[in-house]
Amino acid sequence: MTSHSAGIGLQIAIESSWYCVITMNSSFCLCRLGGPGAPFYFCSIPLHYHLFMDTARHYIFLGPPGSGKGTQAKELANILGIPHVSTGEIFRDNIARGTELGKKVDELLKAGRLVSDDVTNAVVSNRLKQTDAARGVILDGFPRSLPQAEYLATLSVDVLVVLIELPDDEAVQRISGRRTCSQCGAIYHIEYKPASKSGVCDTCGGELKQRNDETEEVIRGRLSIYHKQTEPLIKFYTSSGQLIRVNGLPPIYEVTAQMWALLKL
Ligand code: AP5
Repeated sequence: MTSHSAGIGLQIAIESSWYCVITMNSSFCLCRLGGPGAPFYFCSIPLHYHLFMDTARHYIFLGPPGSGKGTQAKELANILGIPHVSTGEIFRDNIARGTELGKKVDELLKAGRLVSDDVTNAVVSNRLKQTDAARGVILDGFPRSLPQAEYLATLSVDVLVVLIELPDDEAVQRISGRRTCSQCGAIYHIEYKPASKSGVCDTCGGELKQRNDETEEVIRGRLSIYHKQTEPLIKFYTSSGQLIRVNGLPPIYEVTAQMWALLKL
């Protein structure tokens, strides 16, 4: 580790890829990930956290469809500077590109049924082997069955589960109003988080669309699968002390704040 003075504070270069600038208030830092030329972002995570980022930890987002997993997972990934890995997004991307995997899972996603554990575990295994996953990732929508959780446990990596709880009727309401950017995947809601210009992504200008698993009938089916196949994971991770519970009902920023406090970020 080397350090030298910078215009607004002390700049520390860690392993030549992490840069932290300590501001006047030492509980905040201005950070950049990716070395010289990478953009800075202002971060409320204490500096000591960054200094220990070498320890890999996967954060798992668990909760019913529509509970806000994707919304909060993207936020946490941005702040921690680790990848957001959504199995749903990986499957939808493969469907859009017409890959073999996409052809295999297309009908299952449309019907709101789960992809088989073998296929899903293989997809996640490949993703976690990529170099950007070495410091940990945000797993959004994986695991969602006991065999998937048991597979993840064989990887011997520290995991922390964020369970977002939401009643079914509210989940249906949320998904019915969701709009997703077809280019960058940003998530909006026509009422709770509207784009500045209707149908256009604020971030990249991409077209906002509804997913094809968003009819009420399919959403109810996905909720029923969640209760049967995914809810047992709550007990699995509670018994090992790896789970925190977040109330998903308040507005987005309040859910984020609860999560921050519980994760002690
Ligand atoms: P996936 O893409 O993972 O869908 P999901 O788990 O059903 O969850 P959603 O993406 O629908 O909801 P979310 O919780 O992310 O909520 P969001 O943040 O968007 O999976 C899709 C399919 O892929 C599955 O059905 C399955 O077929 C397959 N699959 C994926 N993983 C698999 C696995 N591991 N094994 C087998 N198959 C798998 O928020 C919803 C809306 O609410 C948004 O509009 C948002 O703006 C809004 N909102 C969020 N938070 C708030 C808030 N606090 N207040 C008000 N509005 C809010």
